[in-house]
Amino acid sequence: MENGHAKNRVAVIGSGNWGCVASRLIASNTTKLPSFYDEVRMWVFEEVLPTGKKLSESINQANENCKYLPCIKLGANVIADPDLENAVKDANMLVFVTPHQFVEGICKKLVGKLRLGAQAISLIKGMEVKTEGPCMISKLITDILGINCCVLMGANIASEIAVEKFSEATIGYRKDKEVAIRWAKLFTMPYFLVSIVEDIEGVELCGTLKNVVAIAAGLVDGLDMGNNTKAAIMRIGLREMCAFSKLLFPSVRDNTFFESCGVADLITTCLGGRNRRVAEAFARNGGKRSFDELEAEMLHGQKLQGSTECFLSEDVIKNNFGLLKVISVCN
Ligand SMILES: NC(=O)c1ccc[n+]([C@@H]2O[C@H](COP(=O)([O-])OP(=O)(O)OC[C@H]3O[C@@H](n4cnc5c(N)ncnc54)[C@H](O)[C@@H]3O)[C@@H](O)[C@H]2O)c1
Repeated sequence: MENGHAKNRVAVIGSGNWGCVASRLIASNTTKLPSFYDEVRMWVFEEVLPTGKKLSESINQANENCKYLPCIKLGANVIADPDLENAVKDANMLVFVTPHQFVEGICKKLVGKLRLGAQAISLIKGMEVKTEGPCMISKLITDILGINCCVLMGANIASEIAVEKFSEATIGYRKDKEVAIRWAKLFTMPYFLVSIVEDIEGVELCGTLKNVVAIAAGLVDGLDMGNNTKAAIMRIGLREMCAFSKLLFPSVRDNTFFESCGVADLITTCLGGRNRRVAEAFARNGGKRSFDELEAEMLHGQKLQGSTECFLSEDVIKNNFGLLKVISVCN
């Protein structure tokens, strides 16, 4: 590891659209940075393609994920592995990048299987809603696996980063700045600039809550309400994201909302994300077709984020978070 002698070894848990792009970024850096082994193992949730071939085999043969990121080479040092335990067993740096609803199950399978001293980072935008309240994904990973977990969020529509269009990202960390810097080195490219912020909850909540605002933005588009209304939804949404985050975690900092994970991610998601697109279709269909149905038809295996979740909580209603409340009613 960088703190001394051995090299770092990276495994990526997840191989969807962002999972593949993240693996590609990382794999490009591990070949250049002497403190990392070249090979990046990428755990694949196995699927059988319409051709009858297994997705993991297809990725290893073609060096691309024909289902979730077609026509983009991942790098010869990315190895797809459908065996979760095998994918992570030698790694000391674990990148979690699956849809949020699968994380708990994955972590439970990994208990007792990780290398001593392993570190994690979560690229997952979402939260688990338990009866006792919302639980951030980084905390879920830490609680189940007993390992430190940073987060990386930002204005990062994966298909744009895949073709190396410029963007920025924010790493949120708790106390251990050295570890955050090591993660930043692993992800930074000339077209992908990463900053670090000691506000893990703030960064993660930005990445999570903007998905709700994007649904509102999509509804505005679907109802042809115009750009001024959409801008108002984004402004009010940002204000509510900030207030709601501070209600959950008083330590959250205002400045975090001005990083890529905050206002920039909100803008890109309200302009171009999948939540916006499906919400627009929901409104254009007069609410007659469910989000589940539209998700299956429009996203081909990709997942919506936050369309059916948590915002009917009492805190939200008591504190009159208007936009978040409206969204929950829409669902
Ligand atoms: N795609 C983006 O532009 C983007 C950008 C930033 C962050 N993110 C975040 O990254 C995370 C992962 O999104 P993505 O875009 O890589 O995925 P995706 O929505 O493209 O693909 C879904 C993935 O889930 C897998 N899957 C399906 N059923 C599963 C199961 N039962 N168990 C485990 N895995 C299963 C599929 O194989 C596939 O890899 C999400 O939290 C998302 O918010 C995505």
